[in-house]
Order: sequence, then C-alpha cells, then structure tokens
Amino acid sequence: MAILNIPSEQRQIQDADAIQTYLADIGVGYEQWEPSQPLDESASSEEILAAYSTDIERMKAAGGYVTADVIDIKPDTPNLDALLDKFNKEHWHDEDEVRFTLAGHGQFYLHPVNGPIAGVEVGPGDLLMVPRGIHHWFDLLADRRIRAIRLFQTTAGWTPHYTQSGAEAELAQLLASVAKI
Ligand SMILES: [Fe+2]
Repeated sequence: MAILNIPSEQRQIQDADAIQTYLADIGVGYEQWEPSQPLDESASSEEILAAYSTDIERMKAAGGYVTADVIDIKPDTPNLDALLDKFNKEHWHDEDEVRFTLAGHGQFYLHPVNGPIAGVEVGPGDLLMVPRGIHHWFDLLADRRIRAIRLFQTTAGWTPHYTQSGAEAELAQLLASVAKI
C-alpha cells in the first residue's frame, strides 16, 4: 500500500485512487496488482512471474516492454550500499522504470519539471511506472529489503544519467527542518 508525500507542502496522500490521480498528472503510472494464486516467501522467480503474467503481459503490450525479471535485495546483499549509491542520487534514463513490489519497501522521489518533489513509498502490491526522462531517485527504507518484478523495454537495460542538481540534499534538509518543528 503506497503512501505519497509532498514534503514542500507537508501534505500526505494515502488513498490509492487519489495517489493514482496525483501521479497520473505528472505522467507516472500507479496500479495495485494481485497474484492469480497465493505466493509465499519461498516462491521462485518463475512462480512469481507466472502468478502476475496477466498484468505483466498487459503492461508489456501497452508500454513496449520486452523482458521481465525478479530482483531480491536483502539487508545482507553484498555491496548493498554501493548498489544503492547508483540510484539514490537524482537521475533520469532513456527508458521507463517499472517496478512491482512483492516484499519489503522502496522510496521513490519524483521531481517533475512542473511540480514539487513527490515521495512515493511503495510496498507489497504496488506497481510504479516512472516514465523515461523524468528526474527521480530511489532508496530503501529501514527494512533495507525489496523483492520486485522489473520490466524493461530493451534486453540491455538502461544507464542512469545523473542531474547533479543537488535536489536530494535540498530535500534532506527540508525533511530535517520539518522533523524539528
Ligand atoms: Fe531510475
């Protein structure tokens, strides 16, 4: 169940329909998916992809995605901090970033050209589609855990282009000042 925050306005949205509407206005896709059969923690990637195949195929047809895989990041994943360093700075890429969260959590920050930075905390059941070109960054939350389905538009994957705008640092300052109030 996602939570959307607009830190500069100290505003939070928890209603799924309202989150979908807000994100659609900045070009970002949000959906909630259910598996076709129950999955437990030990489910394999193949079982996961099969259980969500209807939504995956619909998404592929609509967005031109050609591959889907499952990533599994845990607190003891080797070089986790180095891995996160690639994604926790503002960047964009030439392809959409599509993530469906199966377990754990993720924190996306979206920085549209015509609106304030929006934080989207995703959890199990949440699909987020960050379109090509939009500035954004990603981090894990306290559980440092995410298992997610990823969809790609090419088999080669994409390369992040860093904006070096300093938006992450500015937001961190804002969040710290709000926390003191
Ligand atoms: Fe990204």
